[in-house]
Amino acid sequence: MIEKTRARVEHPAPIAPEYVRSIARYVPGKPVEELAREYDLDPAAIIKLASNENPRGPSPKALAAIATAAAELTRYPDGNAFALKAALAAKFAIAPEAIVLGNGSNDVLELVTHAFLRPGDDAVYAQHAFAVYPLATQARGATGIEVPAKSFAHDLDAMLAAITARTRIIFVANPNNPTGTWHRPDVIKAFIGAVPRNVLVVLDEAYNEYLNPSDEAQATRWIADYPHLIVSRSFSKAYGLAALRVGYGVMDPVVADMLNRVRQPFNVNALAQAAAIAALSDVGYVAESRRLNGEGVKQIEAGLQTLGVTALPTHGNFLLINVGDGARVYEALLRQGVIVRPVSNYGLPQWLRVTVGLPAENERFLAALAVALSN
Ligand SMILES: Cc1ncc(COP(=O)(O)O)c(C=O)c1O
Repeated sequence: MIEKTRARVEHPAPIAPEYVRSIARYVPGKPVEELAREYDLDPAAIIKLASNENPRGPSPKALAAIATAAAELTRYPDGNAFALKAALAAKFAIAPEAIVLGNGSNDVLELVTHAFLRPGDDAVYAQHAFAVYPLATQARGATGIEVPAKSFAHDLDAMLAAITARTRIIFVANPNNPTGTWHRPDVIKAFIGAVPRNVLVVLDEAYNEYLNPSDEAQATRWIADYPHLIVSRSFSKAYGLAALRVGYGVMDPVVADMLNRVRQPFNVNALAQAAAIAALSDVGYVAESRRLNGEGVKQIEAGLQTLGVTALPTHGNFLLINVGDGARVYEALLRQGVIVRPVSNYGLPQWLRVTVGLPAENERFLAALAVALSN
């Protein structure tokens, strides 16, 4: 008895490896309910422009599909997501075997690291790139090589130069979150062509649907020529389905097979599968979301100009804004019931990221920002 007690005191709990203990936790946008509790605010009066969701919500077709699918929750979903893969395969004129579905595209990013990274390997990504790349790399005990950005954007030449014999994955977000920076399709294609074939290029296109169609890379067509390419996409952004958690990767079937081996058998739930199929079919809804986003970007940019505040040109549904002291202005906005995203964890303490909302939300943000900056 005494022995047992002593053992518990000396070893209070099993210890995770150092590379897990030193992971800096992902900090999501503050939930509305949490802010309401903390500041004693009416949740209905709070606006959240912090997680790059579509302010219009999902297509009505997706909502109808969810309602239908909700009538049958007893059975496990189709673990191979036959119908959703068929819809994606038809859209991109590729084989269903070239598609891996994820519980959000975040899951796809993690599956790549799970299947391809070991302790001692490297993954390359850019400074100010999406936070999940370093997290997923470190969780495998691999080493992240962060390549300094150039004018806030990925420096693709420097990223190529950073590849070593230990490099297994190179992450490129196009457009990137939180900077909104973007590279032209020809530049991206040349980059992929220059990466050695034993290094996987993860081209993260979570915001692809917000690009002008003429700017889209159509990178899913490149997998036949580039078996080291993985294109990841999300239903969380323009499709408005963030809460359901569904995304996908398009890649050589040999690579897809590896990801499927480490994937949870039922990683995409039935409601998400049904909603994603319906959302894909509603191309008009996505086009209107893109149009509205373009208007919102202009609205916010004009308001910022009046306030004498600069933002980076954006290719996504969010803007990175230089407010001088991100932490102070973030708090001042919270007190007014406006949630945006601080980005000091991205090495950008002077900046805040704001998601483009509906016109009234954008107006409310600009008014709150004016107050926050004048205090
Ligand atoms: C660049 C980028 N990639 C991937 C994701 C992951 O999105 P999800 O897992 O919701 O598909 C995000 C989400 O913010 C993102 O900004």
